Amino acid sequence: MSTPTSAVPVRAMLVLGTRPEAIKLAPVARAMSTGTRFDPIVVTTGQHREMLHQMLGLLCVDVRIALDVMRSRQQLSELTARLVGELGEVMRQQRPDLVVVQGDTTTALAGALAAFYEKIPVAHVEAGLRTGVIDNPFPEELNRSLIGRIARWHFAPTPRAAQHLLDEGVPPEQVFTTGNTVIDNLLWVLGEGSGTSAFRTGAKRILVTLHRRENQGDRMRGMGRALCRLAERGDVEIVLPLHKSPAVRDVLLPELEGRTGISLIEPLGYVDFAATLAECDLVLTDSGGIQEEAPSLSKPALVLRTTTERPEAVDAGAAQLIGTDPDAIVSTATALLDDPAAYRRMARAGNPFGDGQAAERVLAQLDEDFAADVPVTLASPRPYSTA
Ligand code: UD1
Ligand code: UDP
Repeated sequence: MSTPTSAVPVRAMLVLGTRPEAIKLAPVARAMSTGTRFDPIVVTTGQHREMLHQMLGLLCVDVRIALDVMRSRQQLSELTARLVGELGEVMRQQRPDLVVVQGDTTTALAGALAAFYEKIPVAHVEAGLRTGVIDNPFPEELNRSLIGRIARWHFAPTPRAAQHLLDEGVPPEQVFTTGNTVIDNLLWVLGEGSGTSAFRTGAKRILVTLHRRENQGDRMRGMGRALCRLAERGDVEIVLPLHKSPAVRDVLLPELEGRTGISLIEPLGYVDFAATLAECDLVLTDSGGIQEEAPSLSKPALVLRTTTERPEAVDAGAAQLIGTDPDAIVSTATALLDDPAAYRRMARAGNPFGDGQAAERVLAQLDEDFAADVPVTLASPRPYSTA
């Protein structure tokens, strides 16, 4: 593959399919579109139809190619196969100089794999997150590990994530600690202002999101019941923007619809979600991105999962990993709502995920490598350590 000279824009294909990928690649797309060095080619896969659409305004870049890979209640194997096939076709037509993927979704894995088959180097944004448990979260832990074997550039959000990659034998010259682009986006959106919070009352405000596959079914039903018990206190307002996944709705709607103190609402656009997060008192979530955003806004987060790939927030004291047991959810949330000193300790713990400059660091590194005399190859000339 030839390397573009500094006079010719680097054609960077950004592949994204789900809500968090759009949110976290938006700062990269925006930064690429402000100069002449990069030509961002945004490809959406359609993995999240409605929820992705809500986020596209953040990109400030036109979507160049929109695929439509989702089928009703499609299995992961079918989704992966369709994505690799269709993305491979797009890459053959477009011949980008690099492909950028973010995180650990099926779109991200398929984008990296298709690029590898087309011999196009891959940049991985939010690289190196690990729980160490291959099926938790499912399938994300496997997805991000596999992308880690494919990528040419590993943009790790934190030193710990970078260390995971080094421990796995990735050559150090391919690993860059940048901060998480989610913080870039959150600061940008709050700076723009104008979001509307979904909270309506002066009660204690709890923001909840649930969607993880490993929590779906009985576990999620139990979490729903825990929310009902919290609402019975009578002094809380629980707002839950319901993920579009039918597996989430089928469980939570029958448990929670019509309950006093609980507002089930449609997913919020990012600007309104940021305003809602900024107004809440407490976050209960199994989301990855929200674990990163909450500490930035001094909001204690209770993580409703048994593992987390974001232990930095837990270590800092800004989040607690409390698992999925309904009694633990009720007792921990109650303790925080009723103990101002414990609440303050969490709220003041700080944000370990970045300073809002992550996308600039990603672009600076790519620029440097594409400007160098040596051609950019699929992988670094140095082999993976096999020790
Ligand atoms: C996906 C990602 C997960 C990420 C999450 C963010 C995979 C395997 N999972 O999980 O890593 O944390 O997104 O939200 O990549 N649906 C719609 N419209 C939408 C969104 C979803 O109809 O706007 C439906 C899909 O058609 C599908 C179901 O929801 O039937 C589940 O979607 P899917 O993308 O497979 O998994 P998520 O659980 O959303
Ligand atoms: N989010 C949003 N609207 C909502 C719920 C979440 O904009 O109604 C944003 C949230 O701010 C975060 C991202 O979506 O940046 C997280 O997405 P999700 O929880 O779906 O995925 P995960 O981060 O777990 O992969």
